[in-house]
Amino acid sequence: MVAPGPYHRPVPDRPVSAHRRTDTPDLPRADSELPEGEAKVRAVRSMFDSIAPRYDLVNRIMTFGLDVRWRRRAMRDLNLSAGSTVLDLASGTGDFCRELEAAGARVVGVDLSYGMLANARTDAPLVQADILRLPAPAGSVDGVTCGFALRNLVELPSFFDELARVVRAGGRIALLDVGRPTNPVLRFGHGIYFGKVVPLIGGALSDPAAYRYLPKSVAYLPEPPELLAMLQGAGFGDATHTLLWPGAAQLLIGTRDG
Ligand SMILES: C[S@@+](CC[C@H](N)C(=O)[O-])C[C@H]1O[C@@H](n2cnc3c(N)ncnc32)[C@H](O)[C@@H]1O
Repeated sequence: MVAPGPYHRPVPDRPVSAHRRTDTPDLPRADSELPEGEAKVRAVRSMFDSIAPRYDLVNRIMTFGLDVRWRRRAMRDLNLSAGSTVLDLASGTGDFCRELEAAGARVVGVDLSYGMLANARTDAPLVQADILRLPAPAGSVDGVTCGFALRNLVELPSFFDELARVVRAGGRIALLDVGRPTNPVLRFGHGIYFGKVVPLIGGALSDPAAYRYLPKSVAYLPEPPELLAMLQGAGFGDATHTLLWPGAAQLLIGTRDG
């Protein structure tokens, strides 16, 4: 289904160290700067290579374990039958892959970062690739999951077109990313927690620059109506958007038009 080969062992494009608490070199120093184009691809890859060894730990702590619940909700709404072929895009350390395998799916994980793939805890085959150019034939999969990666991509419309290309008619997609609560009190609290506390936790346990970048990277995410319009335009006409409690995550679900 996915070329090249059923199991493509990723090769590091440069040495990936064990846990280190240095700043990711490719991330911008100035708070106002957000990289674009190839500079963004390089920055994202080197950032995830750097934080990979402690990614799961920091993730569980900073979301209070809610990320596990959000992925389960995404799986439930994806609503695919056992035996379905699913691509988990930006698979990271394999959280979605494990959930999908437990549900009986035939899953392949795809990620840009060798460090994340090397730290993945999953039996699923893994492919190192840019998810804007998927090594999969048209209409070859029943479903796609993608967790917390939309804001890391250089171009969202191309990604949605790529999803429409590889997912068969009637196939389903579930895309998760960070969100912003609509309730004013929760929004205020979330702003302080995500903007100030998360960088401190991430900086203490992992790479300070990466976790300073995290709240800033939300600026790349279009507002929900725009995301929906893009997905619908790409060929997921029934796409829906849901903010997941307490509003710190958002879920996009869609069915590939027939
Ligand atoms: C925040 S992590 C999420 C990992 C996992 N999906 C999860 O739910 O925990 C984002 C992942 O997206 C990957 N990523 C970012 N841009 C990518 C791209 N263009 N192609 C493939 N993977 C990408 C990163 O390497 C990283 O593993």
